[in-house]
Amino acid sequence: AAKPRHLMSIGDLSPSEFSALVRNAAARKQDVKSGRVPRLSNGLAGETVAMMFSKRSTRTRVSTEAAVTMLGGHPMFLGKDDIQLGVNESLYDTSVVISSMTSCMVARVGPHSDVTGLAEHSTVPVINALSDDFHPLQTIADFLTIYEAFPSSVSSDNSLNLSGLKVAWVGDSNNVLFDLAIGCVKTGVDIAVASPQGYGIPDHMRKLINSAANGVKSPGKLSETTVPEEAIKNADILVTDTWISMGQEAEKQKRLNAFAGYQITNELATRGGAKNNWKFMHCLPRHPEEVADEVFYSPRSLVFPEAENRLWAAVAALEGFVVNKGVLE
Ligand code: CP
Ligand code: NVA
Repeated sequence: AAKPRHLMSIGDLSPSEFSALVRNAAARKQDVKSGRVPRLSNGLAGETVAMMFSKRSTRTRVSTEAAVTMLGGHPMFLGKDDIQLGVNESLYDTSVVISSMTSCMVARVGPHSDVTGLAEHSTVPVINALSDDFHPLQTIADFLTIYEAFPSSVSSDNSLNLSGLKVAWVGDSNNVLFDLAIGCVKTGVDIAVASPQGYGIPDHMRKLINSAANGVKSPGKLSETTVPEEAIKNADILVTDTWISMGQEAEKQKRLNAFAGYQITNELATRGGAKNNWKFMHCLPRHPEEVADEVFYSPRSLVFPEAENRLWAAVAALEGFVVNKGVLE
């Protein structure tokens, strides 16, 4: 049988495929919210989507379960204490067995090699629901949020054309950033990253992000600094994430010290010279140290629409990878 197509990272997608996922997410949202269709297709009727989560989750779990339900399928949540994986059974055996009974595996893991390992041996599509390296479902939702917040156009090759926008990421260089940066490069959005010394983008990841420009007519540019104000200059959107990702709990105090001065506040945005109508995004869950309440709960903040957009991103990814077998456009 032909190998299924998997979603490991936004880097797996051509610019027009990535745009197609974002635009399908927007279309599905519109279909349902306008009341035009009471529910979505029955594309997953009679099918089961296994959700293997080795870490906690609110948005990814709820959005995926709700999306599978909207498509008429059955979401089967398998937390780390529910199955034999990692304790009594290998990744290989688990992947072969679960994929023999289901139509898709959505997996949240630690090392990225765990999700690529699952994919390698799976007979059904595997969707990365967050690994230490990437969070593609978040990036699809983030670009839906950007697409909604900023007037944008679609190029002749059907890609989103968001050229001229600038994102400033102020905080830790992590999984959420890496896929966001790849999405920016592919859609012409410049992204400036400010992280403290020692918390910047690893060399192999910088190469990967920059290589997303291959074949893109006007790719977004990645720049890096340790000075938040430099990144913020002329930015349209300020973005951050927790300074302490899941699995880094032991480094908490060290990280809180290292990131002192990186909290996003109105004062920092003004001092850095963000554009007048700058917006704020965060994948959540949020902690007060990385962004002040005055920003997080302000009219500039897109965080709750961004969270809701995870649902429409999940619908688009399941339709693209499972119902349409990886044919995204
Ligand atoms: N943004 C996100 O992935 O949130 P959860 O960890 O709650 O799924
Ligand atoms: N960077 C965070 C994202 C959570 C959605 C983590 O990996 O814990």
